[in-house]
Amino acid sequence: MSQKECPKGKEALISLENVSKVFQGKKVIDNVSFDIHCGETFVIMGCSGSGKSTLLRLMTGAIRPDEGRILLRGKDIATMTASEMDEVRKTFGMAFQYSALLDSLTIEENVALPLKEHTKLADEIIGIIIKMKLALVGLRGYESYLPSQISGGMRKRVGFARAIALDPDIVFYDEPTSGLDPVVGGVIDKLIKDLSAKLMITSIVVTHDMQSVFGISDRVAMIHKGKLVEVNTPEEIRSSKNPFVQQFIHGEPTGPIDLFKEDIGIPEALGL
Ligand SMILES: Nc1ncnc2c1ncn2[C@@H]1O[C@H](COP(=O)(O)OP(=O)(O)OP(=O)(O)O)[C@@H](O)[C@H]1O
Ligand SMILES: [Mg+2]
Repeated sequence: MSQKECPKGKEALISLENVSKVFQGKKVIDNVSFDIHCGETFVIMGCSGSGKSTLLRLMTGAIRPDEGRILLRGKDIATMTASEMDEVRKTFGMAFQYSALLDSLTIEENVALPLKEHTKLADEIIGIIIKMKLALVGLRGYESYLPSQISGGMRKRVGFARAIALDPDIVFYDEPTSGLDPVVGGVIDKLIKDLSAKLMITSIVVTHDMQSVFGISDRVAMIHKGKLVEVNTPEEIRSSKNPFVQQFIHGEPTGPIDLFKEDIGIPEALGL
């Protein structure tokens, strides 16, 4: 699996067409359309609760849109059969928001999970693959550690090793640097870039970490309250005239985003 399997011509690898999703009467994704190109690192940024993780779950087929279509290599994932979807999922890697490692399993056993679930490979071969994947994320020799015995940054990397276990075409990262200091965050960003380049992976990264946004993206999409604000290159995002984008990237407490008033309800206390 590689960029050799990229769609031909102008067709996008993943295409969202007017996608909406409603949870409990609330439209959490609202008429969102964008294309993700083969081989790029596409970053989705936005405030907490803006719908970033929901967008990832829609793209991986974990949940279905209420309106619109999600095309993978031109094919609507809603029309795929369960077995077609299983095949597609094998080409996806997922690095979850909180690493999602099983605490009672060793690092090696955690990375082995997708290999045991989706392949019939012998344990000996799985062992070799795990060693290779752990080496790729800089964790050679940590096979027998438990998640509680390694740092948060290392746990993220174990999550990445598990995400690339099946040699995916596309890896989805949900908040890969959350909870990490800026230096370890920078190491994680570099690792995402390296993995994307070395393994020819299309990376879709959800984050609100500006260091990551500008450090790794080929293109950036900002969403706010489920709506797409802008999709652009990082350079164009930096000089965007959109006040939502400017407030977000500079972390200003006041502006059109007005989070406090609507979602937290403490503007008076802060004098905002
Ligand atoms: N399964 C669900 N049932 C009901 N509401 C949901 C569900 N999943 C998400 N939501 C709601 O959808 C909105 C978007 O949630 P989502 O998790 O996508 O945000 P996010 O941008 O990933 O936030 P964060 O940065 O905090 O992770 C929130 O209001 C959330 O409460
Ligand atoms: Mg989230």
